[in-house]
This record gives sequence, structure tokens and C-alpha cells, in this order.
Amino acid sequence: MIISPSVLSANFADLKTDIKKIEDGGAGWLHYDVMDGHFVPNISFGYSILSDVRKVTDLFLDVHLMISDPNKYLTDFIKAGADLITFHYEAYDNLDQIKTVIAKIKDQGIKAGLSIKPNTSVEAIRPLLSDLDLVLVMSVEPGFGGQSFMLGAIDKIKTLRNWIDQEKIQCLIEVDGGINEATGSQCKAAGADVLVAGSYIFKHENTQKAIESLK
Ligand code: DX5
Ligand code: ZN
Repeated sequence: MIISPSVLSANFADLKTDIKKIEDGGAGWLHYDVMDGHFVPNISFGYSILSDVRKVTDLFLDVHLMISDPNKYLTDFIKAGADLITFHYEAYDNLDQIKTVIAKIKDQGIKAGLSIKPNTSVEAIRPLLSDLDLVLVMSVEPGFGGQSFMLGAIDKIKTLRNWIDQEKIQCLIEVDGGINEATGSQCKAAGADVLVAGSYIFKHENTQKAIESLK
């Protein structure tokens, strides 16, 4: 299991220390939540902070764009050091627009992911699976850390796992929102490959134990 701690719950006045903690604790990825106050009702941070993060870590930078016009900012995030950019299905009106954005991400040499909110069905993104490196199933309404896991994510993970295995597609399944030891193990059993956790990891007294409990 790949663990991707969300720095949304880190201490931004001492971010370098928190990044070191997750590195030493055995995380492979770092989840970077970008919010624009429009696609979601919260504002977080942008690409200039990502380039500072890139300078202090070799962790795989897993960028989750919760913004209305991801296409406009792709190059900025790629230049800042993103290894994977995941944007939202709900940010666009049709699959052709989404395919264009996926291709633009991959053409610049990094991985492309697509996320679905809790009310979006997995069927909506089925035609795109073979184009994607990752699908991100949101298990909370995007916008804030510290919310409770929505159980509806489990069936989505199971369905995706079946499709991906049956069709032998190279696409990871990531889950984000309300992940802790209990909900993480349900996601693992359902077939997830990557778990995002913010408050569980950063509020835990022992970062390494928190990360290990999710693996
Ligand atoms: C929510 C973000 C999450 C968030 C998860 O919109 O996409 O990545 O940081 O936080 P927890 O793990 O606290 O639910
Ligand atoms: Zn996220």
C-alpha cells in the first residue's frame, strides 16, 4: 500500500519538519491539496509553495487540484515539481475536454489522475480508465480535512478494482478523506492501491506508527 500524507493538516510554519517526519515515517508520496475557493469552498496553497516543497524532499509529489480550471495551471504545477496531477471530473462538462487535459499532463512527462466526488458514479469515468495513471475516489466532500469517511467509497473501489483487473489496465486506485486505521483497512480490502491521510497522520503522536498502521 502506498501512503500519501496530506500536508493540508501539516504545520505550515514548520513544514520542513513535518515533511521530514513523513519521510522518516515511511511515506512514499506527499499529497498536496490545491483549493481555489471556487470549485471548493476553501482556499489552500498554490504552485509557488509546491516549488519550495520540491526543494526539500524527494517524495513523489501527488498534486490534487480542487480548482475550477485545472488546464490553466497545469504547466505551473509541473514546473514546480509535480510528479502526478489529479484533477476533478466535475471541473468539466464533457469527456473530450477531460481527455485533452489528461493528454496535456502526460505530454509533459508526468502522471495523470482523475478524481470523482462522492456523488459522481464510477460509471462516469469508465471510458477514461485506460488513459489514466490513477483514479482518486473521494470519500468526503472535497474542501476540508478532518471529515468522516463516507462508506459509499467502498463499492466504488471494488467496482474499479474489478474493471482494472479484468481489462488489465495500469491504473492505480487512490482514496482520499476520513482515512484512519479502520477505514484504511476497509479500503485496502476493497482493492485500493494508495491511501491519502491528513489529520490521522499529522495529529498522531507517532507519525511512523500512524503510517505503518495504514500499510
Ligand atoms: C479534502 C482533501 C484531503 C484532506 C484529507 O478535500 O482532498 O486530501 O486533506 O484530510 P483527512 O485525511 O483529514 O480527511
Ligand atoms: Zn486530497
